[in-house]
Amino acid sequence: MEKLVIKGGKPLVGEITAGGSKNSVVGILAATLMTSGECVLNNIPNIEDVCILLDIFRDIGLKPTFRKNKLIIDTEKIATTDVTTEAATKMRASYYLLGALLGRFGHASLPCPGGCDIGLRPIDQHIKGFEALGAKVLVEGGRISVSADRLIGCDIVFDCVSVGATINVMMAAALARGVTQLVNVAKEPHVVDAANFLNYMGAKIKGAGTDIMRIEGVESLKTGEYTVIPDQIEVGTYMIAAASTGGCVRIKNVIPKHMETLCAKLEEMGAGVEYGDDNILVTCQGRPQSASVKTAVYPGFPTDLQQPLSAMMCIAEGRSTITETIYENRFKHLDELQKMGAVISVKNNKAYIEGVETLYGTKVNATDLRAGASLVIAGLSARGTTEIYNIEHIDRGYEAIEKKLRRLGADIVRERAD
Ligand code: EPZ
Repeated sequence: MEKLVIKGGKPLVGEITAGGSKNSVVGILAATLMTSGECVLNNIPNIEDVCILLDIFRDIGLKPTFRKNKLIIDTEKIATTDVTTEAATKMRASYYLLGALLGRFGHASLPCPGGCDIGLRPIDQHIKGFEALGAKVLVEGGRISVSADRLIGCDIVFDCVSVGATINVMMAAALARGVTQLVNVAKEPHVVDAANFLNYMGAKIKGAGTDIMRIEGVESLKTGEYTVIPDQIEVGTYMIAAASTGGCVRIKNVIPKHMETLCAKLEEMGAGVEYGDDNILVTCQGRPQSASVKTAVYPGFPTDLQQPLSAMMCIAEGRSTITETIYENRFKHLDELQKMGAVISVKNNKAYIEGVETLYGTKVNATDLRAGASLVIAGLSARGTTEIYNIEHIDRGYEAIEKKLRRLGADIVRERAD
């Protein structure tokens, strides 16, 4: 086990480059299984979720190579569509293997997905989509299996907007016979990226990024080389860290449009934001101002950034609020922030944060991926030393977080945690 040790109080200054989008890569990696041949993927982040997926790929007979953020995989010889890798239960997105393998082989089975403990996170919409396309779905003994002689396109209206269900059903429909219309779909950048990758491989998907997608099934997909978009949430995390420490940081490899909602909120809190073509400069002088945030599906304020932003709100002037509308239980990090001196109360899905002059370093636990990010941000601005435990959560979604922060002048090291 390891911990991050941060000596806070130093403004972040300098430049860093964001990596590829975790939430794109996990879908696109699964989508490579839909074709037979060599795919080359660039801008792949070296994070735990990618490593777990590659372990699963090896367990089903593939030999991916992954060096310097470039991944090469030949998916011709898949030995089995029954995934038994226990690690699949450690992440959420292993469920994308269902849509991909069902589309190509008409069958898939894997352990029920895991992922951050931030709510119930059912997969009823995934199941609804697969069954509508003609698949049989069985969930028993901690495993989920899907099978179909032939997937037949149809109209599907999702009961709620789901990133995972949108990508999963989109993949299955891409190789179904006939046309599928998906209504009430997710529009996040990573959904569009996954659709773009599939179209690049010969799929016929229209409307990604809007409320309705039209998918004309094709017989098979080609192979090719593709570069994944920058990680909207990693970029946002470093933007908040820069503003929270009163720093001046340019983040490169950014699609500014994806950051608009966060930029507006940071400016509201007193930060300066300057857009370049593929980079964003964030500055902040003095103490941030308080603000209110209500999470929503894209292009609303991303639920994945409310936790990092809560750390900045803890030291803002005045009362801030966070209303979490996507998940039922995404406030566990607030207990840890209170150990550092934050003044927070929670009523139902709304958190009330009374800003204090400063937080104080102490020992805290990362309870999930973005909770860990919020504790890193809190430690960077806190007085004294913060020790963050259970950082395996953080490593699932941030490549070399301590190295990137040290490049910006942070006093942060990774140590063994006894
Ligand atoms: C994706 O999770 C992301 N993960 C999450 O990021 C992100 O928070 C979430 O989308 C929302 O943007 C990946 O892409 C790997 P959903 P996903 O299906 O697909 C309910 C991070 O920090 N729902 O859009 O699991 C669900 O319970 C992670 O990077 C159903 O009710 O999210 C939730 O309340 C955390 N039935 C809401 O919809 C379903 O079948 C949104 O879930 C599916 C979802």
